[in-house]
Amino acid sequence: MRIYSRILGTGSYLPENRLTNADLADQLAQQGVETSDDWIVERTGIRARHFAADSQGCSDLATEAARKALAAAGISADELDLIIVGTSTPDMVFPSVATMVQHKLGTAGCPAFDVQAVCSGFIYALTIADSMIQSGSAKRALVIGSEVFSRILDFKDRTTCVLFGDGAGAVVLEAADQPGILATDLHADGKYKDILCVPGHVNRGGILGDPVLKMDGQAVFKLAVGVLEETARASLAKANLTDADIDWLIPHQANIRIMQSTAKKLKMSADKVVVTVDQHGNTSAASIPLALDTAVRDGRIQRGQTLMLEGVGGGFTWGSVLLRY
Ligand SMILES: CC(C)(COP(=O)(O)OP(=O)(O)OC[C@H]1O[C@@H](n2cnc3c(N)ncnc32)[C@H](O)[C@@H]1OP(=O)(O)O)[C@@H](O)C(=O)NCCC(=O)NCCS
Repeated sequence: MRIYSRILGTGSYLPENRLTNADLADQLAQQGVETSDDWIVERTGIRARHFAADSQGCSDLATEAARKALAAAGISADELDLIIVGTSTPDMVFPSVATMVQHKLGTAGCPAFDVQAVCSGFIYALTIADSMIQSGSAKRALVIGSEVFSRILDFKDRTTCVLFGDGAGAVVLEAADQPGILATDLHADGKYKDILCVPGHVNRGGILGDPVLKMDGQAVFKLAVGVLEETARASLAKANLTDADIDWLIPHQANIRIMQSTAKKLKMSADKVVVTVDQHGNTSAASIPLALDTAVRDGRIQRGQTLMLEGVGGGFTWGSVLLRY
């Protein structure tokens, strides 16, 4: 009999420190950087973001989200046999955030590792967990997207620093005899590395290159809109479903205009798109599980509904997961 994976519970966490666009504009003005609430809302749909406290690392945010997902799933950390974290902003070069989360959850033994696919990180991590469950090598997986992008932003670059925030989202997946995850689709194309990257890296005891985010916003925008439609269609085709079967579109929360244009291409009305970018900006690998958890907890997403999760990010990487919740 075929094994599927299904979502048992979701959780998310946003750090306490919330900055509205006006708060951020005030802080940036003190450094001579000019921006405004109007510009940010009009071009991106973002109204606020959360920044982690200095004492909080990526693994702290991830652990908070994980605890909520475990509670929602009604299982303990000891019952997990796999932990995967999608992140580009780990606490350390190594060990992985996943092993830190494992320890903070008070458990040990099961495999734990990170996946680095930037804003597609959660989609990659979920796909890997699904494959491991399908193959029988795991029964209960914790899959997390967690980021502290505030640590890699250049607050003198107004074209990027207004766009991102910190946060974490998590799901517990369990083996089941019915789907669950219906189809997955992953891609990457390394020729686009320069349009979205953090070029700095640790080298011989120092940092070589600029360790802050660089982006060609317009190039990213164009690429994102195209690949998000393609990957959604690829997952639908694999599951023998059509646009009309999707109850909720949960895209990577980067920019409301990208999300609206993807929804239009998939012939979906705006009220079928889960939007949280206004409240937390782009939280990279955390954005999709954060949006998913928000809509599960406010009652929009119901058991039995069909969800299209899709992401795009640096690399370039992109992909989608189509599932029955
Ligand atoms: C970044 C982005 C919002 C910029 O919007 P845009 O419409 O392309 O804006 P432009 O870059 O053409 O800039 C337009 C003007 O606004 C100015 N501007 C840029 N950032 C600004 C800010 N924060 N506040 C005020 N003005 C700003 C620019 O300097 C430019 O001024 P100029 O015309 O005098 O030169 C948009 O390109 C985008 O969302 N791209 C995708 C980014 C993304 O989603 N990345 C993550 C993917 S995982």
